[in-house]
Amino acid sequence: STFTPPFLQRLPDTVSTILEKSRKGELVEGAAVTVHGWVRSVRKQKKIAFAQIMDGSSDQMIQLVFLDPSIALDLKTGVSVRATGKLEVTPTRQDPYEISITDPIEILGDYASPTDLYPLQKKFMTQEYLRREHPALRFRTRVNANVMRLRSVAITALSAYFLQNGFFQTQPPLITSSDCEGAGEVFTVANSSSSSSAGEHFFGQKAYLTVSTQLHLESLMMGLTRVWTLTPAFRAEESMTSRHLSEFWMLEAEVAFTKDLESVMSIVEGMIRSAVTRMKSEGVLDQILSLKRMLEKQKATAKEGEDDEEMVTADEVSERWNTLVATEQPWKRITYEQAISVLQDAVAQGKVEFQHKVEYGESLKSEHEKWLARHYAQGPVFVTNYPANMKPFYMLPGPDGTVECFDLLVPDMGELVGGSLREHDYERLRGAIAASGMDPEPLEWYLELRKWGSVPHGGFGMGFERLICYLGGVYNIREAIAFPRWIDHCAC
Ligand code: 4AD
Repeated sequence: STFTPPFLQRLPDTVSTILEKSRKGELVEGAAVTVHGWVRSVRKQKKIAFAQIMDGSSDQMIQLVFLDPSIALDLKTGVSVRATGKLEVTPTRQDPYEISITDPIEILGDYASPTDLYPLQKKFMTQEYLRREHPALRFRTRVNANVMRLRSVAITALSAYFLQNGFFQTQPPLITSSDCEGAGEVFTVANSSSSSSAGEHFFGQKAYLTVSTQLHLESLMMGLTRVWTLTPAFRAEESMTSRHLSEFWMLEAEVAFTKDLESVMSIVEGMIRSAVTRMKSEGVLDQILSLKRMLEKQKATAKEGEDDEEMVTADEVSERWNTLVATEQPWKRITYEQAISVLQDAVAQGKVEFQHKVEYGESLKSEHEKWLARHYAQGPVFVTNYPANMKPFYMLPGPDGTVECFDLLVPDMGELVGGSLREHDYERLRGAIAASGMDPEPLEWYLELRKWGSVPHGGFGMGFERLICYLGGVYNIREAIAFPRWIDHCAC
């Protein structure tokens, strides 16, 4: 038998453990059960009353039944309660387990002002409204709680892949002295007493919030061979799109002893496939789909103008999961040059019109990326070997003025992952830093890695919220993170 330390036994059962124990027969009809949770809804009739209780431990609720409705008099939506009663089992019903309450129940948290109305109404509330008006209460809604649970299970599933493949999880710093991407999107760190001098007083030099931990991860990789990390990344990007945040989480990995881009791409593909397969087998997709179907019903019955928020449908989410794992075939890989000609041909044949012109040497815009994934690849596609001048200084040069890099594009969203082989030669890296116009001084430590036993290597970074949007059918990236930050928005 397994040993459970006494302190672990002190927490009460959650709604999901009560339901699980009931399903397994560990709790039988008539067993005394204590539930803790928030009241989602109450229905009071003359001779009977019902309350739905939820605690976020899963998307499931449990129903309390009051044969004496006077016990339920003080119950209202949103209050937190503790209730003890007897388990009732009705095998023929969709939710076969409920709890019959005969003793008074304990209201643990009432409204601060008893005359106020609970702000989260039963009727449809847009995500935008919830985020703006009740940023701290939104995790009490099924949709937002589910996204937070998805983040949690996704991290477990991704971690499992790295564990199985000999990677160490590492913790690079978030305060740095350099701009990894060289794109000038760094936030400066300053202590409040020296805000006018950009933090130079505190650290004795300029300091920034990291835009990517890649450079430090390379240092760790040169001691540990295979490393990964999941950290916040910060970018002072002035974009207001549904794909950009100022603070987001990035999953990055770095591997030593590899000279080919294909092996880095195969790590990315293996990681996503294995994590998605695992989550699917755990019923994560089913949960998302059942919530989506509920929302679709709500949307269908909503009044004109009441719900015009864009939504990803259940069918679309299902298709996304399928394209990631359905076939044994590897995902498509094409070069940037091929991608340009595929796009140009499609335009010439009148198959598509783009806002931005498609031209070799120009970056792929979001509309191009989405089209390539949806129509050319009908699923994820790696686009490799972009021209060197479009990419950061650290990438290994490839043929014809390109670099050994890739972007992974997925339908509806575009870029999900970016990666490359890294320049591992000391002189060439120094030259690349100079050529990109960056100050080499803050990068001397990084250059030193190439001085002493450098090694061919590569790695990648995946936007974690983009993955959550994609898998969870979350339309706007602001709903894929608990407290989103973007330009002009940092209120709570
Ligand atoms: O393509 P990016 O800029 O690559 C890097 O930073 C590399 N140093 C990573 C590496 O190789 N270790 O960013 C990687 C990914 C993008 O593909 C995108 O998914 C996500 O990070 N991303 C953002 N996600 C949300 N909001 C933003 N502002 C993002 N910028 C990038």
